[in-house]
Amino acid sequence: MIKAVTGTKDILPIEIPRWNYLEEIVKKIFSQFNYREIRTPIFELTQLFARGIGEATDIVSKEMYTFLDRSGDSLTLRPELTASVVRAFVEHSLDKKQGLNKLFYVGPMFRQERPQAGRFRQFHQFGAEALGSHDPLLDAEMIIMAYDIIAKLGLKKLVVKINSLGVPSAREEYKTVLRDYLNQHLDKLSEESKKRLELNILRIFDSKDERDKSVMKAAPLLIDYLDSESIDHFEKVKSALQNASVPFQVDATLVRGLDYYTHTTFEVVSGSVGSQSALCGGGRYNGLVKELGGPDLPGVGFAAGMERILLACENENSFKAEEEKTDVFIITIDKTLQGFSFQTALALRRSDLIVETDYLSRSVKAQMREANRLNSKFVLFVGGDEFVNGEVVLKNMSNSEQKNISKGNLEEIVKLIKVN
Ligand code: HAM
Repeated sequence: MIKAVTGTKDILPIEIPRWNYLEEIVKKIFSQFNYREIRTPIFELTQLFARGIGEATDIVSKEMYTFLDRSGDSLTLRPELTASVVRAFVEHSLDKKQGLNKLFYVGPMFRQERPQAGRFRQFHQFGAEALGSHDPLLDAEMIIMAYDIIAKLGLKKLVVKINSLGVPSAREEYKTVLRDYLNQHLDKLSEESKKRLELNILRIFDSKDERDKSVMKAAPLLIDYLDSESIDHFEKVKSALQNASVPFQVDATLVRGLDYYTHTTFEVVSGSVGSQSALCGGGRYNGLVKELGGPDLPGVGFAAGMERILLACENENSFKAEEEKTDVFIITIDKTLQGFSFQTALALRRSDLIVETDYLSRSVKAQMREANRLNSKFVLFVGGDEFVNGEVVLKNMSNSEQKNISKGNLEEIVKLIKVN
């Protein structure tokens, strides 16, 4: 038997109502904030992510699904969508059409990470990107949208963590300070962190190694090296969050794994999904549009992991998705009438009803069981003495009321079903 690839997962019909419910909430809240959907290709030229996300990041250096196509181009399955959205924004000169572009997306992403609970190689994100404004209120808007969506799903055990990475010049200055500090403690660092010292020094804050953790506890923090403009920006974000009643914690060690961030970064973390606890993450990226060949315009955004969110919802039993219902199941009493049932089902479907009938030559009892399994609101009996008399029988499953209707009178059947 051929199985699904490690780290990928089928979403079976029984799980779909939960996914649909989540997507409905996501699309509703994004549209309330006037974000418009964008759909970009599943694969892009590799250099887009290498340049956009950063060569030294874990995503680019170890996790991308990269391949040469038959023309010899290096392509990569998208590991995230910020770089793709910015590419589309630049390619279509969206800034020329409107001053501020507010975009959202929902779809699959691909990273070759070690699979575990809440971590997959194909996973789904919803996310938003606002391109064209420096306003700190937009940073707050991202955090508010993420929080509102997650809270609307009924999740309670949440922590919103925010930090500021400031502007690149202040960060470069700080990196020198941090490097000096770490060089004094080199012998206590893990091998991995020693490598990061040159390439991706801020990520040492994310190390799970106890030796690194104890060194980092006393490390100087970027937040203490921010310039006054960055501090002012951060203060405005914080006060907007307070006014919006979004509880948050400032976490000065929240550096995030992608290189493009400037100023605000944030994550919403759940206490009910184990070690892969970040439900979403994002922040401001004022240099990315220019880096990808566009005008010098700022951006801010976030993305959330849908499998993780649904796992948290399941663990907290936070919502029950409505089961899918069938309007009417046509029960064929007489096998010779299967053609009639098929035609009637078709006519009712073309009148906008959700209809099923039997294709397995089942007994009446088995067809009734199937009708119940499908949560049918009505069943329509075709056959028996009634049919000989030119009638079919419509039964309302919620109150067991039955009504004989002339077998050609589809309008009456549709009317009775639709009023219920
Ligand atoms: P990220 O932190 O890499 O950010 O991913 C965002 C979220 O996607 C994570 O918090 C997590 O919930 C989910 N996620 C990431 N990797 C996996 C995985 N292997 N399996 C399951 N879920 C996963 C970004 O992707 C940025 N593009 C966010 C952003 C948008 N920043 C600005 N705009």
